[in-house]
Amino acid sequence: MSLYFGGDYNPEQWPEDVWHEDVALMRRAGVNLVSVGVFAWSRLEPEEGRYDFGWLDRVLDLLDEGGVKVALATPTASPPPWFSLAYPDALPVRADGTRLLHGSRDTYCGSAPAYREACRRIAGELGRRYAGHPALALWHVHNEYGTACHCDHAAAAFRGWLRKEYGDLDALNDAWVTDFWSQRYSDWEQVFPPRATQYLANPGQLLDFRRFWSDELLAAYTEQRDVLRAATPDVPVTTNFVFGGWVPVDHARWAREVDLVAIDDYPSDAGPAAEEQVAFAGDLARHWAGGDKWLLMESAPNLIYTPGRMHAKEPGRMLRHSLAHVARGSRGAMFFQWRAPRGGAERFHSALVPHAGPDSRTFREAVELGSALRALSEVEDGAIEAPAAIAWDAASWWALQGPGLPWEGIDYLAEARAAHRALWTAGITTDFVSLSRPLAPYRLLVLPAHYLMSDAAADAVAAYVDAGGHLVATYLSGIADERGRVRLGGYPGALRDVLGVRVEEFRPAAHGWDEAVTLNGAAWERPGVTRHRYGAGTAWYVSTPLDDEAYRELMAEAAGITPAPPRLELVRRRGDGMSWLFALNHTDRTALGPANGVDLLSGASVSGVLELPAGGCAVIREVDIVPGKPLP
Ligand code: GLA
Repeated sequence: MSLYFGGDYNPEQWPEDVWHEDVALMRRAGVNLVSVGVFAWSRLEPEEGRYDFGWLDRVLDLLDEGGVKVALATPTASPPPWFSLAYPDALPVRADGTRLLHGSRDTYCGSAPAYREACRRIAGELGRRYAGHPALALWHVHNEYGTACHCDHAAAAFRGWLRKEYGDLDALNDAWVTDFWSQRYSDWEQVFPPRATQYLANPGQLLDFRRFWSDELLAAYTEQRDVLRAATPDVPVTTNFVFGGWVPVDHARWAREVDLVAIDDYPSDAGPAAEEQVAFAGDLARHWAGGDKWLLMESAPNLIYTPGRMHAKEPGRMLRHSLAHVARGSRGAMFFQWRAPRGGAERFHSALVPHAGPDSRTFREAVELGSALRALSEVEDGAIEAPAAIAWDAASWWALQGPGLPWEGIDYLAEARAAHRALWTAGITTDFVSLSRPLAPYRLLVLPAHYLMSDAAADAVAAYVDAGGHLVATYLSGIADERGRVRLGGYPGALRDVLGVRVEEFRPAAHGWDEAVTLNGAAWERPGVTRHRYGAGTAWYVSTPLDDEAYRELMAEAAGITPAPPRLELVRRRGDGMSWLFALNHTDRTALGPANGVDLLSGASVSGVLELPAGGCAVIREVDIVPGKPLP
C-alpha cells in the first residue's frame, strides 16, 4: 500500500478544462488521494431538495481514469444561503446574542433539528450516488468540527445533556458550586448555555458546556457516519480533527468513532518552533489513534497564516515536515489545498499548484515529495518506539481557560508544548497518553499543568511511580477534581503524597509563577524542582517555569538518557523483523548521526555514521539492529 499524497481539491471553483490539467499535474506529482466536495453544498444542492451531481460524477470519473482516489466529503461545514433563509433558527448565536448569517462558513447551530436533518439528507444522497464508485476510498465527513452555539436549540440540548450527566439538579448544583453568588438552580429551565453575563461566569458551567458540545457535535458526526456506512459498509469514514483552544471537541473520545484518525496541522510559528509543533501534532494524533496509524489530512504547502501576516515555508520544509509526520505514524501527507483559488477569503492561502502555476518552487517541491513518499511505502506498518509519555487532557485545557484563575498567563497548550519540546530537543520520542490508559510501558511520565484530576487518575499515577516509574509533574497539576472543584488540604491536592510536597500558597510573580513549597519527603534538586523517592520510583515536582535548557536536562535525567544533539530529529519505526530510522536535520549545518543501512530516499548505503546536510532528511532501512538493544 502506498502512502497517501494529495490534498483538498475544489473543482467546483474551476471550469472543466482546468480539471483535465489538474489530473495531468496530479499524475506528474504522484498525487494518489484528494478530498473532494468539502465546501460544495451550494453546487450539489442549489435549491432545497434539487440536486446536481452531474459535475461531481464527471470529476470522480476523471480522477479515477487518472488513478487518483477520492476522500469524498459531505459538505455540511458550509450550508448554502438558501438554507439560512429557510431555517433562520438554525443559524448560530454567539454568547452575546448575535445571530450570525451566511457569508463565511460554519454558519449553523449543531443542535438545530433542521440543520441536522439537512446534513443527514445530503450525506444520504452522496452515499447512495457514489456507493461502488471505483475512485471512492474514504468518506470525509464535514470539516473541522468545532463550532459552538448559544441559541435556544443549544440550550435545550445542553439541559438534556446535563440531566443525563447529573440525574438531578442537586448534583449539578453541587458540581458547579452554585451556592457561590446565589446561582442555585431550582428548575432545569433556569439553566442556560453560558451567555453574556455581568461579571465572571461560573467555571463549572463553562467546563460542562465544552463537554456538552463535544458530545453534541460527535452525535452530529455519527449520524452522518451511520448514513454513509449504511450505503457503503466497506468504505472507511473519518472527519478531519482541528486543533485549537476554541475547539470544544475531545478528540481522544471522538477517535473511537472514526475509522481513521485524520488531523489538520498548521504550525502557528514559522520559525524553528514549527518543527517542534509538527512533532507535537503528530505525537498527539498517534495518541488519538491509540498508537495506530493516522493521516495528516491537511497542512500548508507554503505560506502559513501567522498572527499579523503570512509567512513562507522555507525550501525543504514541505518534505521535512511531511516526513516528520510519517515518522510518527501518518499514512501520508495531505495538503490544503491542491490549487490556489482566484477569490474567496483564502485566496492567498498556499497550494500545491500556486497562483504562479506548476512552474514554481512549491510545485517542484510537491513533485519531490510525491517521489519521496513513493519510496517509503514499506514503512507504513512500522510501530513507533517511545520511552516517554505526556498526559494529555482536553478538559484540563478547557478548565484552565476559565475565569478567576490565580494566573491569567497560564496556557495549558503552551505548558504541554514546553514539556514536549524539552523531550523533543533531548531526542526522546514521546507518546501522549490518557491517565486512564496503561502507564507502565513508559520509563517517564510527564504531567504538564494537569489541572483536573479524578481520584482514579491520581491513583493510577501513584501506582505507576510506586512500581518504578519516573514522574515529572508541573505546577497547577492535580489541583481540582474532574468537575473543577479545588482539592483541599494543600496543593497539588491529588499529587501531594506521590510528589512528597505540600504547597500552602501560590506566589504568582512577575516572571509567571511560583509557590511556597514545603518538603514532605522530597528534597530540592535545583531551584524550582524537587525530587521524591516513592516506592520503587521517583517523582519530580516543577513548581516554577524552567527555561528550555533546564527543562531539557531534567527530562534527560528523568528518562535516564544522554540527550541527543538538539534539532537532529531521530525517530525509529519498527516492523516485523525490520526497522526504519527517520533522520531529519532541522539545523543549518551538516549533522552527524549514528546509522547503519540504506537510505530509502537517496538509495545510498550508510555504515556507522550518517552525514546529513543542513535541512536534509534520510529514512534508513536499518541492518544489524539487535532487538532490545538501547537506541543509539
Ligand atoms: C482549515 C480548513 C481549511 C482551510 C485551512 C486554512 O484546516 O479545514 O478549509 O481553511 O484551515 O489553513
